[in-house]
Amino acid sequence: MTTSSSSLVLLILLLCTASHTIPTLSSANIEAYPSIPGTQTTTDFSNNGELDLAPVRREVYGGGRIIDISHRYTPDMPSWDSVDGVGQFLWLPKSMKNGSLANNSEMKLPTHTGTHVDAPGHVFDHYFDAGFDVDTLDLDVLNGQALLVDVPRDKNITAEVMKSLNIPRGVRRVLFRTLNTDRRLMFKKEFDTSYVGFMKDGAQWLVDNTDIKLVGIDYLSVAAYDDLIPSHLVLLEDREIILVEGLKLDNVQPGIYSVNCLPLRLLGAEGSPIRCILIK
Ligand SMILES: *[C@@H]1O[C@H](CO)[C@@H](O)[C@H](O)[C@H]1NC(C)=O
Ligand SMILES: *[C@@H]1O[C@H](CO)[C@@H](O)[C@H](O)[C@H]1NC(C)=O
Ligand SMILES: *[C@@H]1O[C@H](CO)[C@@H](O)[C@H](O)[C@H]1NC(C)=O
Repeated sequence: MTTSSSSLVLLILLLCTASHTIPTLSSANIEAYPSIPGTQTTTDFSNNGELDLAPVRREVYGGGRIIDISHRYTPDMPSWDSVDGVGQFLWLPKSMKNGSLANNSEMKLPTHTGTHVDAPGHVFDHYFDAGFDVDTLDLDVLNGQALLVDVPRDKNITAEVMKSLNIPRGVRRVLFRTLNTDRRLMFKKEFDTSYVGFMKDGAQWLVDNTDIKLVGIDYLSVAAYDDLIPSHLVLLEDREIILVEGLKLDNVQPGIYSVNCLPLRLLGAEGSPIRCILIK
């Protein structure tokens, strides 16, 4: 989840050479990319009719052994409580076309955009002040054996639903696939409050009756909109559980995988974009 008050701004210079100072984002000398790669067909790369420079964009690698479960960042991906999507987030302030030695992009994103992780400081102000940011998250929790499960499509994740899933003790990482994937909500620009997530009693059941420390889900919040803050509080209070939100779980079989998730080391940020893959 994110709110305007909690959305720290992420500003990153890509391919920035050491001698460059940070350019300011003035509209005069900045032009958006015409489109984000992946939202255009590869044949659009018709640079002087040369079509052989088209890159390959993939969801799986190694003959299907490695599955990318992160979403591609595009202006049309959903943004919390917004009908307009993420919008333009990438600029090219220095471009070779304009005489620079290299192309240097800048981006500006709320940290809870797309596939992302929540740190305890997201909903606990004293944890935020104490420094429990994304840089303090345990990579041992974010990487290891994980179970991908389908949850019933007719309910939010309540205690009753959690119980019915029969997730054995000892399972530490679970990715919950829900109706959100069927509805392709992460591919829709308009934010949808009717997404499926944890109700408070489902979150409490997970904390009390399982060994799950990594909770993954397929829309922007693990908590259902109606229990937004209560569910987050229950899950993050002990600072042991890590929440990964906005996962892309389409076309993956339920079962056991090795999951690998790596957030950015953003000092002071209570959220971060995260790249997650499954390995069979
Ligand atoms: C290049 O510079 C021109 C004019 O100086 C400007 O209109 C254009 O947006 C710039 N293009 C890029 C990609 O920076
Ligand atoms: C960026 O650099 C490449 C060459 O590496 C060039 O072909 C391309 O036109 C440049 N892009 C822009 C927007 O200037
Ligand atoms: C889940 O809860 C949301 C409100 O948070 C509601 O709009 C939605 O209909 C519920 N989904 C299901 C499948 O019950």
